Amino acid sequence: MSSRNDVKTIIGGAEFIDEGARILKEGGLVAFPTETVYGLGADAFNPQAVKDIFTAKGRPQDNPLIVHFASVEDVKMAVKEIPPVAYKLWERFSPGPLTLVLPKNDKLPLITTAGIQTVGIRIPNHPIALELIKKSGTGIAAPSANTSGRVSPTRAIDVYEDMVGKIPLILDGGQTDVGIESTVLDLTKDIPIVLRPGGVTIEMLTEVLDKVINHKGEVIVAESPGMKYKHYAPTCPCVGARAPSSAFAEYCKHDNGVIVGRNSFIKALPSDVTVASLGESPAECMRNIFSLLRDLEKKYDYIIIEDFSSEAEYFALYNRLKKTTGNVIV
Ligand code: TXA
Ligand code: MG
Repeated sequence: MSSRNDVKTIIGGAEFIDEGARILKEGGLVAFPTETVYGLGADAFNPQAVKDIFTAKGRPQDNPLIVHFASVEDVKMAVKEIPPVAYKLWERFSPGPLTLVLPKNDKLPLITTAGIQTVGIRIPNHPIALELIKKSGTGIAAPSANTSGRVSPTRAIDVYEDMVGKIPLILDGGQTDVGIESTVLDLTKDIPIVLRPGGVTIEMLTEVLDKVINHKGEVIVAESPGMKYKHYAPTCPCVGARAPSSAFAEYCKHDNGVIVGRNSFIKALPSDVTVASLGESPAECMRNIFSLLRDLEKKYDYIIIEDFSSEAEYFALYNRLKKTTGNVIV
C-alpha cells in the first residue's frame, strides 16, 4: 500500500454497503460517511488491518483510533467496564458526535489504541455508517479519512483526493451534516474531561454531567436544574437594553411600550417616553423589580429593561433579568 494506483479505488453509494462489509471482514479498508466527517475504517480487532490505516494515512503510531459501534450493547466488545454516566450520556447523545474514552478490554488489540489502556468509542449518527458497522459484525476503527495533517474530509471526493490508489472503496453519503469531528470526552478521570471540543458542546454535556473540565482545563459546573428554564417572565414580551438610546429605538418600534430602569437611565430618555423607575441603588432595584413587572405587564404590551450585565453590584438583579428577557438585549 505505498504508491498511488496500487489499488483501484471506487466511489459508491449505499448499494455498496454489502461490498464494504465484505472488505472489512477480509481485513481491508473502507472509507465511509458519518455525520461529522468521513472515516477510514478497518476491523478494530484485526491488528494488520488497523496497521494499514496508519500506513494509508501516514498517521503517527502513538495517536489512538476511535472505535465505532452500531449500538450501546455492542460497545462491550471493546470495553472493560461501562460506568453509569456513559449510559446516561449515550441515552442523550447517541447516536451522535460524541466519543467517550473508556477502559479497553484485552480483546481489543493495543495497536488500535496506540498502546494505551483506554479506547475512544463512538456511535455515529449516519445510516450508511450504522448499516456498514452492523453488516460487518464488528467494531470499526476509524480516524478521519484524510492524509495525516491534512483537512478532514466532508465529501467522498475529498477522501478520494487523499486515498486514491490506497483503498478499494469509498462509500458516498454526500456532504456530512455536522462538518467537524466528534467531541472527545474522557470518562476515566474523576471529573470528565473534554479532550477535543466538537459537535456536542459543553452546555449540552452539562445537561447530563454535574461537572466537566473543558479543553482549556477549566472546571465547568452545571447550573442548577431550574436555571435552564425561562423564569421571571412577564406575560408580555420583554427585552433588555444596553443604553438609553437603544432602549428608545426599540420603544419606537412597538405600540404601548414602557422603558424600565434606574433613575439615571430614565433621565437620559426624551421626556415624552413612557417610563417606570426601579429606584437607583442595587437594594432598591431588587426590592422593586418583581412587583413593578407584575404591575407593568397588566398595563403595557412591551417592556424594555435596562441591562445590568456589566455592573458587579447588580449581579443578582442581572441574573434574574437575564431570564426575564430571555437574554435578548438591544
Ligand atoms: O468525528 C470523529 O470523531 C471522526 C469520525 C470518523 O468518527 N473521527 C476522528 O478520528 O476524528 P481522528 O482519529 O481523526 O481523531 C480522534 C481523536 C484524536 O485526537 C485522538 O488522539 C483522540 O481522538 N483519541 C482517540 N482515542 C483516544 C483515547 N483512548 N484517549 C485519548 N484520546 C483519544
Ligand atoms: Mg483526524
